[in-house]
Amino acid sequence: MEANSREPVFSGLRMAVVAAAAFTLLLCQFPACSAAGAAAACDFPSIFNFGDSNSDTGGLSAALGQAPPPNGETYFHRPSGRYCDGRLLIDFIAEDLRLPHLSAYLDSVGSNFSHGANFATAGSTIRPQSGYSPISLNVQLVEFSDFLARSQYFRSQGGVFTRLLPREEYFSRALYMFDIGQNDLTAGLKQNMTIGQIKASIPDVMAQFSDAIKKVYAEGGRSFWIHNTGPLGCLIYMMDRFHLEAPEDEHGCLRTLNELAQYFNARLKEAVDSLRTELPLAAITYVDVYSVKYNLITQARQHGFQQPFKACCGHGGKYNFNNSRRCGFKVTVEGKEVVIARSCKDPSVRVSWDGIHFTEPANRWFFEQIADGSYSDPPVRLNTACHRMGHQSMV
Ligand SMILES: *[C@@H]1O[C@H](CO)[C@@H](O)[C@H](O)[C@H]1NC(C)=O
Ligand SMILES: *[C@@H]1O[C@H](CO)[C@@H](O)[C@H](O)[C@H]1NC(C)=O
Ligand SMILES: *[C@@H]1O[C@H](CO)[C@@H](O)[C@H](O)[C@H]1NC(C)=O
Repeated sequence: MEANSREPVFSGLRMAVVAAAAFTLLLCQFPACSAAGAAAACDFPSIFNFGDSNSDTGGLSAALGQAPPPNGETYFHRPSGRYCDGRLLIDFIAEDLRLPHLSAYLDSVGSNFSHGANFATAGSTIRPQSGYSPISLNVQLVEFSDFLARSQYFRSQGGVFTRLLPREEYFSRALYMFDIGQNDLTAGLKQNMTIGQIKASIPDVMAQFSDAIKKVYAEGGRSFWIHNTGPLGCLIYMMDRFHLEAPEDEHGCLRTLNELAQYFNARLKEAVDSLRTELPLAAITYVDVYSVKYNLITQARQHGFQQPFKACCGHGGKYNFNNSRRCGFKVTVEGKEVVIARSCKDPSVRVSWDGIHFTEPANRWFFEQIADGSYSDPPVRLNTACHRMGHQSMV
């Protein structure tokens, strides 16, 4: 499989960006840093994404009913299959790569897969779990293989399919993104497992995650962009449920759950390291979105945000969150349906959208933090994530 095409022509602006990246790299501690400064842009023609609600752009909505209003209100001005007032981190990533927002693979209405597909669905886990989305990571991989084979058959038939389905080479040159694992942790909590029991399940979770990456690699994927899991103990739905039982840190987040998320992330980083050794042609970027999210939640005011521990869209309780009256929840009053879990006045200054997911402004902020590679290992910019750093001697 060919490495992604390089683009030798730099605009002035891009030169400045590369210079800034090179400066950042002088400070970094990864062994491969020296090579990264000069890396050419990858020109990704497509994105294939796997995950849960953090990156679902319409999968669960297509299967089980739309995420209700006011989801989508600020940017799309209608429900858009996202659990957010507007765009998700993955939408900002797509825009930065000059690609259209990804259509959900499961969405049969109005979808356009010419530049990729999104297999993420809300509630998905890495390991199949009852009580969660049935579209766990292994199922998302089956969907991907099916999409790869059938899209090429239909594309070869010509006509409108050539404008709806990706070219063959878009699969090998794509950016493969993963943001999944949060629900594997909450599934354990839901089953009343102890933290120790959940930790003991993580090696198996990682084995299944690594399997998914290897399957994509076997199908020709080469560039991987992997988000770690966020600070579970700072998320309102967890705080609402466990704040009476669990000790808080200095910011009010639940220490035990954040330690669990960090334990998961440490194992994920190890799994990624092994994958780099096992898959000699893969460029795998591990992105520490945990730290980015933790920084915003715990320093909201410094970054121009307010009330990180109150859901913008919700109804009642300490956190404006009630699990049985989530964002968009309706009651019938005198024969008329009325939304009682409504949006706050100004989502543009809020961190948490619905107590589980973030607002568009928070997602944009996360994007700005991670795009230049500051939170990545290796520390490569998003648009240079096709270059394999380090481990060259093993190829
Ligand atoms: C699908 O999207 C691509 C890229 O935005 C566009 O060029 C193409 O025309 C679209 N296909 C259809 C059938 O509209
Ligand atoms: C977990 O514990 C709660 C409270 O003790 C209980 O109501 C619930 O049924 C338990 N769940 C499972 C799956 O055992
Ligand atoms: C959450 O909503 C339920 C009704 O669906 C209600 O009984 C309960 O009191 C609410 N909890 C809080 C903390 O407001």
